[in-house]
Amino acid sequence: MPQRIVAGNWKMHGSRQFLAGFLASLTGDVLAKAGCEVLLFPPATLLPLLSAQAPDLGIGLGIQTVHPESQGAFTGEIAAEMAADVGATWTLVGHSERRQIFGESDADVALRALAARRAGLRTMLCVGESLAERQRGDAEAVVTRQLDAVLEALGDDLATGGIAYEPVWAIGTGETASPEMAQAMHAMIRGVLRRRSERLAEMPILYGGSVKPANAAALFAEVDIDGALVGGASLDPAAFLAIIRAMETHGNP
Ligand code: 13P
Repeated sequence: MPQRIVAGNWKMHGSRQFLAGFLASLTGDVLAKAGCEVLLFPPATLLPLLSAQAPDLGIGLGIQTVHPESQGAFTGEIAAEMAADVGATWTLVGHSERRQIFGESDADVALRALAARRAGLRTMLCVGESLAERQRGDAEAVVTRQLDAVLEALGDDLATGGIAYEPVWAIGTGETASPEMAQAMHAMIRGVLRRRSERLAEMPILYGGSVKPANAAALFAEVDIDGALVGGASLDPAAFLAIIRAMETHGNP
């Protein structure tokens, strides 16, 4: 049975003041008791601050991207080892915003996944097709290509992490893939993983793209949806907690 995960990707949002307010509204040991793994991917500036408190709260921490190299003259970049040094145990790789805005190719994504492995970080590999790719009927081919690029590089080692299926047309748009549509792609992804190994087939496959308290339960009821990678709603502690509760109530046993 894959681990169930609810993860928040704060993207380029958040200050120390915001973080203090966010943490203050997580009452008691609600997250420690969540019954699923809870992860946050804050901006790198907040990692050291959060890592001082996150373990007590039962939150796992990740960085949003890493550079392939462990050090060097790469102004503005952060190495996987540096993220681990300040308490990250996860990294996102291949988020669609990295692919689209920063031009990361499948090969670049694979290099970042290799860097994560080198530093001992678990990888949350993001995959997903654009609207044009879906309309052309290429959604499954695109997602398979994105998966294969990293599977070729890491093989079974990817199994320590997770996959996040995030259709680009559903990110930040209010458009969610229907639970059936998401389930179909998750099942396809599970099949790609299973063809390589049973261990890979046990990876958690998260859905991302306009996940909100109102749609989380229906998504989590699908058999191959093991959690969510939440953007906007993860910045609102009440909404994030409601999504975690939806996982407890409606997630697969
Ligand atoms: P939204 O939940 O804001 O659509 O963002 C999804 C996402 O990109 C998470 O990585």
